Amino acid sequence: MDGSIINLRRACMMLAVSVASTLAVMPAAQANEVSAGQTIATHGTAQGVAACIGCHGAKGEGNAAAGFPRLAGLSAAYLSTQLTAFAEGTRPNPIMQPMAKLLTASERSAVASYFAGLPAPAGVKASDSGSVTPANVGAWIATRGRWDQALPACVQCHGPGGIGVAPTFPPLAGQPAAYIASQLHNWKDGKRPPGPMALMPVVASKLSDADITAVADYYAGVGVGVTGAGKSANGSKP
Ligand code: HEC
Ligand code: HEC
Repeated sequence: MDGSIINLRRACMMLAVSVASTLAVMPAAQANEVSAGQTIATHGTAQGVAACIGCHGAKGEGNAAAGFPRLAGLSAAYLSTQLTAFAEGTRPNPIMQPMAKLLTASERSAVASYFAGLPAPAGVKASDSGSVTPANVGAWIATRGRWDQALPACVQCHGPGGIGVAPTFPPLAGQPAAYIASQLHNWKDGKRPPGPMALMPVVASKLSDADITAVADYYAGVGVGVTGAGKSANGSKP
């Protein structure tokens, strides 16, 4: 117990130091926004919004066991679009929706800038792993896609290793398997807004349930070595 409190304290101090050094090279207005965002992320708001780091991790690295996504290093534009979608109810989620509603537009933009400025967790790198044969369904879909179905490889938009291509294509590497799978199902079922050019609903519609499990496990595995993120606690789920 004591140990974890000390670790938490150390993590907070390291966070403060890294934010301070980031602030040093930023114009004042932007620095103010990031620091307002940090306060929301670490303390929540007086209106009853919980501290984001409670679920998304002290460094925004996510939580694999709980399926909470990583926010660190995602683009500010992407994060703030998602927060607005939660607030407006176009991206329904019982946990995020009420909190996003309680944030003002400028608070959403501030907290998005804060998480965008945090580094991707160590261990997430731009390389694909696993043997790429049709039998290795996850790696195959990720790096080759399926020509006969006109399914593009995930890497074509999400970058090598699913590292993400800012500002439009969020990273997949180091996201919890359960989170990746749930988002693909949401698009298949029309429960997440289509996003830019409605690219993801088309991709998801071409994936079977087994494909979704395989590709989600593949990308969670690319982030292996990431504390608190990466592969789900019990490996692949049915
Ligand atoms: C009680 C836990 C919890 C807290 C606290 C929390 N979140 Fe979340 N967050 C979630 C869950 C669960 C999801 C996945 C929602 C889904 O499946 O669509 C999520 C998703 C998100 C996403 C979408 C990420 C993506 O890759 O599309 C953003 C952005 C986000 N949260 C920001 C925040 C911010 C900012 C705060 C603090 C103001 C916060 N969250 C606080 C649980 C939480
Ligand atoms: C043609 C481009 C394109 C391809 C190919 C593509 N994606 Fe995406 N993907 C996107 C875009 C754009 C978004 C952002 C959607 C948004 O803003 O709501 C996205 C978002 C996602 C997300 C949500 C991430 C988050 O943080 O919530 C997941 C999961 C995802 N893609 C998985 C995949 C997988 C798996 C594949 C391969 C089977 C794939 N994508 C192929 C364009 C693409």
